[in-house]
Amino acid sequence: MTRASLDKQPADVAAMFDSTAERYDLLNTLMTGGQDRRWRREVVRAVDARPGERVLDLAAGTGTSSVPFAEAGADTVACDFSLGMLRVGVRRQAGVSRLSFVAGDALKLPFADASFDAVTISFGLRNVADTVGALREMRRVAKPGGRLLVCEVSHPPNKLLALGHRTHLKVGLPLLARVSSNPDSYHYLAESTLAWPDQAGLSRLIQDAGWGEVRWRDLTFGVAALHHAVNPG
Ligand SMILES: C[S@@+](CC[C@H](N)C(=O)[O-])C[C@H]1O[C@@H](n2cnc3c(N)ncnc32)[C@H](O)[C@@H]1O
Repeated sequence: MTRASLDKQPADVAAMFDSTAERYDLLNTLMTGGQDRRWRREVVRAVDARPGERVLDLAAGTGTSSVPFAEAGADTVACDFSLGMLRVGVRRQAGVSRLSFVAGDALKLPFADASFDAVTISFGLRNVADTVGALREMRRVAKPGGRLLVCEVSHPPNKLLALGHRTHLKVGLPLLARVSSNPDSYHYLAESTLAWPDQAGLSRLIQDAGWGEVRWRDLTFGVAALHHAVNPG
């Protein structure tokens, strides 16, 4: 299996997800101790997709994060650059109407300007080589007044919890990696989380990309965070 490193070469990142595609959803639940399901419910509530709206779920992988928007009645596009993830998604979500899968790179989205009411990305932004570049592209394809929701791993603000979390990343995940059939995914999650900005840092990057009204909410004491913003147009 290819291991994506922190320089996030697109081919390595895509190959890593291609090779875990079949087991990705299970692996995700194992690596987050089942918290991912709760976090997804929060994302769905925050995006608040309505019938007739167009929603882009970027870095959508197998479409697990996209299905609830389509079920809420929004025309939903699940976009990803891993063909392996998209293939599994097309097969698994075959019965879901209003959901289409599109191959595309977050840094060069294959969509016209101002084409979505809401743009969201769950556990994907951390994997993109140029964070601000991707946030700018998301703003380009969002309508004026369109919403941005970023759900990503983060850092607990409480010092004691932060210490426990760092220990889990530096010691716990590498131990789990030893007994896992996908050790590289555990190592990559640990390394990429440790290198990722905290809530205020990500908020600044979102502002740098031109989004307005940026705010965030911690999930599970800040192990993950949900950032909201609006496209000022
Ligand atoms: C951890 S998965 C998240 C999938 C899904 N959003 C979820 O919540 O289950 C990250 C996804 O980001 C995708 N990805 C990483 N960099 C990307 C890029 N530059 N353009 C499009 N997709 C990208 C990967 O292929 C992978 O499917």
